[in-house]
Parts: sequence; C-alpha cells; structure tokens
Amino acid sequence: MPTRRSLIASIAVMALAPAARASTGQPFFYRSPGCGCCHLWTERMAEAGLPVLMEDSDDLAGLSARFGIPAGLEGCHVGEIGGYVVSGHVPPADIKRLLSEKPAARGLVVPGMPIGSPGMEMGDRVDRYDVLLLAPDGTTSVFATHG
Ligand code: CU
Ligand code: CU
Repeated sequence: MPTRRSLIASIAVMALAPAARASTGQPFFYRSPGCGCCHLWTERMAEAGLPVLMEDSDDLAGLSARFGIPAGLEGCHVGEIGGYVVSGHVPPADIKRLLSEKPAARGLVVPGMPIGSPGMEMGDRVDRYDVLLLAPDGTTSVFATHG
C-alpha cells in the first residue's frame, strides 16, 4: 500500500505531466474545479462504454495549451484517450469513430459548452455545433456537426 503522502506526491507529479500519465493507457481528463457538466460528460462516456477518470485542475487554460488546444478553442475539460487529445463536450460516438478511423491528428475539440451536447443537456434544445479535428500542425477541420 502506498502511503497517503506518496500517493499525493505521485498525483501531484502526474498532474504536472499529463503526457506521462496518458502513457499508462488510462483515459484521464482534467476539468475546472467542481464543473458539473464535465462530470455529466464522463457519465455519458461511461454509458457509451468509454469510462474515463477526471480530476480538478486549477489551471485548465494552461493544461489546454500544453495539450495543444489552440487559443480560443478551449473547452471545460481536456484529456487524452487512445493517444488522442479530447477537449470539451465531444460526443462519445465521435470519439469512437476517431479511435476506429485513427486519422493522423492530435484529437477532437468542441470549443465552449454547446447546449445539447453530451453533458450539456437542457431539455430538447440542441444548439448547432461542430466537433473539430485538430491536425498535428494545430489547424482544425470539421469532423462532425450536431444539432
Ligand atoms: Cu462543460
Ligand atoms: Cu467539461
């Protein structure tokens, strides 16, 4: 059993090194502290058979930058799954498509928090939003459109 102190220390190290943590293969995400819609997104992911872990970050903007999310396209949570970066309320089905098609890309991004996206349900309302494919050079293209 690791001591509580060593456990806290290792968590602190992993929080500073998202890439190293992702290398364990365990999908791991960071959110703004206490963000409820982030938690709901993890529930949608689990329901779709893509369980992920998530913890609070005091510096989501800094983490997003380190994950390569272009300025202005950040979401409310960010992490890695299957070697791809996922930022924001990306529908689990799009992530499954990404993981099966395996494009040469950094990952998927949903900027902001579109109403009606997974975890952001508000009745029947679904605002139109794009899921962006983030290319290795930091440019984006539309991967899917919803709403
Ligand atoms: Cu959100
Ligand atoms: Cu979120």
